[in-house]
Amino acid sequence: MNAELFESVDNYIGELLGHEDEVLKSAGRSVKDTTMPGANVSANQGKFLQVLARSCNARKILEIGTLGGYSTIWLGRVLPLDGHLITLELEQSNAEIAHRNIIKAGLDPIVDIRIGKALELLPAIEAEEIGPFDMIFIDADKPPYTEYFEWALKLSRPGTIIVADNVIREGKVLDTKATDEKVKGVQRLNKMLAENKQVTATIIQTVGSKYHDGMVIAVVN
Ligand code: SAH
Ligand code: DHB
Ligand code: MG
Repeated sequence: MNAELFESVDNYIGELLGHEDEVLKSAGRSVKDTTMPGANVSANQGKFLQVLARSCNARKILEIGTLGGYSTIWLGRVLPLDGHLITLELEQSNAEIAHRNIIKAGLDPIVDIRIGKALELLPAIEAEEIGPFDMIFIDADKPPYTEYFEWALKLSRPGTIIVADNVIREGKVLDTKATDEKVKGVQRLNKMLAENKQVTATIIQTVGSKYHDGMVIAVVN
């Protein structure tokens, strides 16, 4: 593979269009102190999330999987002052790191970090009638990705953009005999999408500073 070339091109795009200020740089660095060092999106992927959020005029965003708040900051920065971003995180220690980064970014007034298992937090979000969300970013544990997507549909409206990260996994999704639960989780979502009539969806393959992967991009019909 041309990994070096892909990384150089990613850096080229980043220098042109994926600028990280000090707040994003320090949030990116803080991810090494979380339970999943390196699992944040890249700068260019953060910018891509911003492009999508702007394209649907997002005012309300739901994120599943906060880690250090790196993607949260990219997304939160294109919300209006009266916007709202709810982000769900299993680990208290990650949420604390994310909270510090979000305060530094000045986004604390519009970002709500909720701690717990996403599947246990989502019913409350439905009951509180906070949705429908304009954009939903799924980026937590992979085995329940299909269930997260079903929740995203429940909390959406026609036009909502739903993104799911890490659905290609260096091409491991091609292995029909995969035993890795993460691979099986994203294969199940990708297959479900092929049959789902509620969304118009595709998968964008990504290369660059992160390993070869992909993101589901779906718009609710
Ligand atoms: N969106 C982040 C990266 C998220 S990494 C970014 O790009 O910056 C995945 C996160 O999901 C980790 O912080 C992990 O602790 C969290 N997670 C794992 N299982 C979870 C669950 N069941 N519910 C909520 N969060 C979960
Ligand atoms: C994994 C999860 C992520 O969200 C990511 O961006 C990279 C890797 C993982 O669980 O392996
Ligand atoms: Mg991810």
